Amino acid sequence: MSSDFDARRFKAMERAGFNRIAAHYDNAAHLRASLQDALIAAAAPAPGEHWLDVASGPGLLARAMAPQLGPTGSVLATDIADGMLAHARRNIDAGNVLFAATDAERLCTPDGHFDGISIGLGLFVLPHPDKALAELRRSLKPGGRIALSVWGAAGSVPLIERAQQCIARLLPAPKVARPSVFRFGDPAYLSAMLSEAGFGRITLAPHDFHCRFATADAYWDAFLALAGGATEALSRLPADKQQALRAAVADDLADLADDDGYHVPASTLIATAIKP
Ligand SMILES: C[S@@+](CC[C@H](N)C(=O)[O-])C[C@H]1O[C@@H](n2cnc3c(N)ncnc32)[C@H](O)[C@@H]1O
Repeated sequence: MSSDFDARRFKAMERAGFNRIAAHYDNAAHLRASLQDALIAAAAPAPGEHWLDVASGPGLLARAMAPQLGPTGSVLATDIADGMLAHARRNIDAGNVLFAATDAERLCTPDGHFDGISIGLGLFVLPHPDKALAELRRSLKPGGRIALSVWGAAGSVPLIERAQQCIARLLPAPKVARPSVFRFGDPAYLSAMLSEAGFGRITLAPHDFHCRFATADAYWDAFLALAGGATEALSRLPADKQQALRAAVADDLADLADDDGYHVPASTLIATAIKP
């Protein structure tokens, strides 16, 4: 990361962006349903366990886990964006789901408390993922487990990359580079990171899925409903530039077009690990 990188500013952009899209996030989340199911299967939450869901967004994972944890278990949904959690609170009607706004790199959680921690599509939005992993480890009971999903390596996630290519094609390069959201898609890198954070029994499994969009517009809307910091930056552009990007993305999607619109793939990795 460049020495000009300002982590506080980056986090403020992410928080503002995810608050901005909180009400729309669910609109495109169903496209990633198979990833959520695979992550929960890997996490295997059991009745009576206490889970922490980090970077929870509108609480989709927490909501899906709650019935498996049962009335004696619980899941604490956390996120830096309070607007996301407000949305989660409105949408989740389960007595065993709790909510707390907190930065993943400085969690407001007690030591050694949780049986398991999930973090779906969240690690790569953090400027200091090593700090977050240390916080996860601190918050877990000995023998507790983490389950997380990340985007695959660069080149394997057209779902995100086609929009990024369009932005890079039409707009000047940002003055300060943002960390790549694909950096954990290298299994060796992710595994080393988990191991350095003190986790053991690491498993990594690829999970690939496809999203279908009737129009390029629908693809662009789904991107804007997912990419917090980027959406925030784009929202500050003049309306004509925003419109030009929306119109231009069809060119970047051209090779993914078929008779029914666009068929856009995405690769992810699902990791699990244990606190010894
Ligand atoms: C791509 S969304 C993932 C949401 C959800 N886990 C899912 O699987 O759909 C990333 C989430 O990370 C949150 N986030 C960003 N920076 C964070 C930070 N420093 N600490 C905690 N959450 C953060 C955002 O507000 C957003 O809700």
